[in-house]
Amino acid sequence: MDRIRIVGGRELAGTIPISGAKNAALPLMIAALMTGDTLTLENVPHLADVEQLIRILGNHGVDYSVNGKRDHQNGNGGGYSRTINFTARDIVDTTAPYELVSKMRASFWVIGPLLARMGEARVSLPGGCAIGTRPVDLFIDGLQALGADIDVDNGYVIAKAKNRLKGNRYVFPKVSVGATHVLMMAASLARGETVLENAAREPEVVNLAECLNAMGAKIHGAGTSTITIDGVDQLSGASVRVIPDRIETGTYAMAVAMAGGDVLLKDAQPDLLQNALDVIAQTGAEITPTNEGIRVKRNGAGISPVDVTTEPFPGFPTDLQAQFMGLMTKAKGKSRITETIFENRFMHVQELARLGAHITLSGQTAIVEGVSKLKGAPVMATDLRASVSLVIAGLAAEGETTVNRIYHLDRGFERLEDKLSGCGAVIERISG
Ligand code: UD1
Repeated sequence: MDRIRIVGGRELAGTIPISGAKNAALPLMIAALMTGDTLTLENVPHLADVEQLIRILGNHGVDYSVNGKRDHQNGNGGGYSRTINFTARDIVDTTAPYELVSKMRASFWVIGPLLARMGEARVSLPGGCAIGTRPVDLFIDGLQALGADIDVDNGYVIAKAKNRLKGNRYVFPKVSVGATHVLMMAASLARGETVLENAAREPEVVNLAECLNAMGAKIHGAGTSTITIDGVDQLSGASVRVIPDRIETGTYAMAVAMAGGDVLLKDAQPDLLQNALDVIAQTGAEITPTNEGIRVKRNGAGISPVDVTTEPFPGFPTDLQAQFMGLMTKAKGKSRITETIFENRFMHVQELARLGAHITLSGQTAIVEGVSKLKGAPVMATDLRASVSLVIAGLAAEGETTVNRIYHLDRGFERLEDKLSGCGAVIERISG
């Protein structure tokens, strides 16, 4: 199993290109199921989760090509973000089996397009990161509000809508990114108008709405908590660009805030993570939006402690919580980090402690007592975002840190070790 070896203590200097957002690419790819025409997506990151979703979509009959050629003929464009064409001319199977769905939670979202286009879908209950129970009740509830008949049998959600889905008003009892994606897709092909209230406002929801509208859907209000969708009879092909990854942006900004240095995060978009950038600035880093992206700089001064609470967008993202905790382990004083989205998202605490961090847990709050020095150690990645917090901490620790089980990292961070070593970090992947 691959691992990453880091020798800490180097400042970062140079440019890090920000990739297309994993969490936007996945729902856009799933939207390809909704038309027989070709959906072209630009800036798709090269990640294990994207490859996995390509396999899942292939099982339903989606054909794809990279820059006009089949992926295996073309290589992968050097491993960086690329343009992929997806064509679901015929849906050959409306079942998403356990073997495929269990590897990635977002693949459950195919339920929306399959149901809307084919009138039926049989989708395994999902797996994914072990960060809490992550149920699917909101999806079931919402699709039922659009007139779907739903049974859960033998680990599968079986959804039917023989006479087409029907628009309705649905108020989400809790903000959910995935359920907002799915209901927006399903309602686009329903009869009549749907109004979604308490919808997720994440930039990825906006990116999906732009994609669906480019395909002929009639969606208004994405990015606010009320989304209105006028159903249409069919969607067509389109060409859409995946937005830059705000979580990758925030992660590298925190790496610089922690290790020190001066880095341009090329193609990053500040409005996608303003709250997190404000927090990082409060820790003492200088954040400057430029024509090319975001410049992050921190010189000799210490790291100031800042309290944060995770919230749905536009609040501080749960996907940056672990990385921020990494940064706070070296702050000059005490900070409190409260997780409100997922109940079991503190698995990085024990691993950060192996590097010398002082963290105590009190319910959903972690109290971090900053230390002046972290010391390198072997650590274990437990989930996608937790693992990158260990990398950040390793960059600022004295000596050598080895991060094991990095397949988690490969799910969501494109060429992490190349991007960091390009800025002077001593970091390498060790195979086997
Ligand atoms: C997405 C992101 C993930 C991010 C999360 C929150 C992708 C691929 N993943 O995940 O990186 O951490 O948003 O910003 O975009 N919930 C229910 N019932 C449901 C659905 C969700 O109770 O049917 C709960 C979840 O357990 C969680 C909360 O709602 O407590 C928010 O989850 P949700 O926004 O749905 O997360 P995902 O879409 O899975």
